[in-house]
Amino acid sequence: MTTNNPLKAAWQALYRHAEEMRATHLRALFAEDPQRFAAFSLQSGDILMDFSKQRLTSVTLRLLRQIASASGLSCWRQRMADGNAINHTENRAVLHMALRAPAQAAPDAATAREVAENLEHMRAFCAALHTQPGGGERVTDVVHLGIGGSDLGPRMAVQALAACQHPDLRLHFVANVDGAALAPLLARLNPRSTLFIVVSKTFATQETLTNARTAREWVDASLPETNARAGADAVARHFVAVTSNLAAATAFGIPAARVFLFGEGVGGRFSLWSPVGLSLALAIGFSGFTALLSGARQMDAHFLEAPPEKNLPLTLALLDLWNADALGAHSHGIFPYSQSLELFPAYLQQLEMESLGKSVDRQGAPLAHGGSPILWGAAGTSGQHAVFQLLHQGRALVPCDFLLLKHADFPLPDHHLRLLANGLAQSAALAFGETPEEARARQVDAALLPWRAFPGNQPSTTLLLERLTPHVLGQLLALYEHKVFCLGVLWNLNAFDQWGVELGKKMAQRLLPYLEDEGETPGAVLDASTRGLIAALNAGCAA
Ligand code: F6P
Repeated sequence: MTTNNPLKAAWQALYRHAEEMRATHLRALFAEDPQRFAAFSLQSGDILMDFSKQRLTSVTLRLLRQIASASGLSCWRQRMADGNAINHTENRAVLHMALRAPAQAAPDAATAREVAENLEHMRAFCAALHTQPGGGERVTDVVHLGIGGSDLGPRMAVQALAACQHPDLRLHFVANVDGAALAPLLARLNPRSTLFIVVSKTFATQETLTNARTAREWVDASLPETNARAGADAVARHFVAVTSNLAAATAFGIPAARVFLFGEGVGGRFSLWSPVGLSLALAIGFSGFTALLSGARQMDAHFLEAPPEKNLPLTLALLDLWNADALGAHSHGIFPYSQSLELFPAYLQQLEMESLGKSVDRQGAPLAHGGSPILWGAAGTSGQHAVFQLLHQGRALVPCDFLLLKHADFPLPDHHLRLLANGLAQSAALAFGETPEEARARQVDAALLPWRAFPGNQPSTTLLLERLTPHVLGQLLALYEHKVFCLGVLWNLNAFDQWGVELGKKMAQRLLPYLEDEGETPGAVLDASTRGLIAALNAGCAA
């Protein structure tokens, strides 16, 4: 049935085309067009994106771009850049691009001023830290306390950029409320030379505040003489906060001058560019942090200005849409061939799944298309020896992103060549597989052929990064941020709220008293399963 609605018509055309493409093998596509690499690769700044191993043709791309155009993508992109409240369920603007924009490109003068002040606050603190005594001694250890978006970005980036790290400073990250995360760390730290950065946008997150209170008690108890001295206060000296909630941070005991603020319009998973990145700035120096911002800004400019056929973030989003909606992929693998990027899949899981893991559209109706696939991944080559069996011979269609570094970020050059050879080999093996005939020609035992053949046709995109510097990492992260934005528009959902995490948080608050006070018996208000488990736990505690 045809329709007058251009968006509906574009989706219908894509689904019809998918029927024709579903049985097409990547072998056939490469045999038909030996120039596939040239036709299906793009470059922006220091990132080359090869998507020739995706199961598509130029017709596919044309149809995908029709959906983008009919979705009003360029209009939404401008609305975000202009600071409109596109996060409609929270009535908030989406301002992470403003954090790295030149003043004249900020949505308004107040935002530009706020960003500049925050950056200056960070710069001055970074400059002072390496000379400033922390409770009488030089700061040797920085403990970043935060969770989710207040943890994953800085944690991942500090590890990714370890090669440029300040040699005299150790960085630690504690997110989990499990005492197993904080206790062993406190046991080996010297309180006199330790700085805690409490990072929480709301300053109300149970896990972060529990860890921060424990750290505060530890500092107070370890440095009584600092507290005894007139005018000196151990917590004030050994803590800083990064938050949007100044009142709560000062109520905790952190002086206002040591509170780094960022605005409501910066979502946790998009907040690395704000003072949430303070621990990263301390690790790699403020100039390294500004290089990260400039890399992201370069990708922003590309995203805003490049035409659709050259636009990396838009193309990456369209590939996801093609794989998920048209070819039916339910999961997506992320494989950085870089030990330094080991945490990149975890970071991306939050960015994508918290943004796109929705089933209701902007109008409140069930989604007509899309919703996030399940993201997973591991650093290569280690992942090859753990999860790749499923990719090569399992039944699931799992599109993958491979990330390769042209230049190593650590010495041992022959290791790097082996790493690259493996990354290239995996994407080729997944794409082309090995037929039973080829296996036979390789002298594979005929009796084992059913198990020794590789079907191939597993699609992938390879991102080749020039090298892992702050500037290039900034480009990479902004690329994925904008991909997420595009998918939100294409799937007609709000990528910037996260209501789904609220229910469990509230329930945990309700259940805590039953565990704290073993005598209290949960009433019929709780379900039988939870009641039974609480009773078993309390019985265990008493034993
Ligand atoms: O529980 C999810 C979440 O709300 C994330 O979106 C956020 O990044 C994280 O918790 C931490 O929140 P906050 O920075 O307010 O402590």
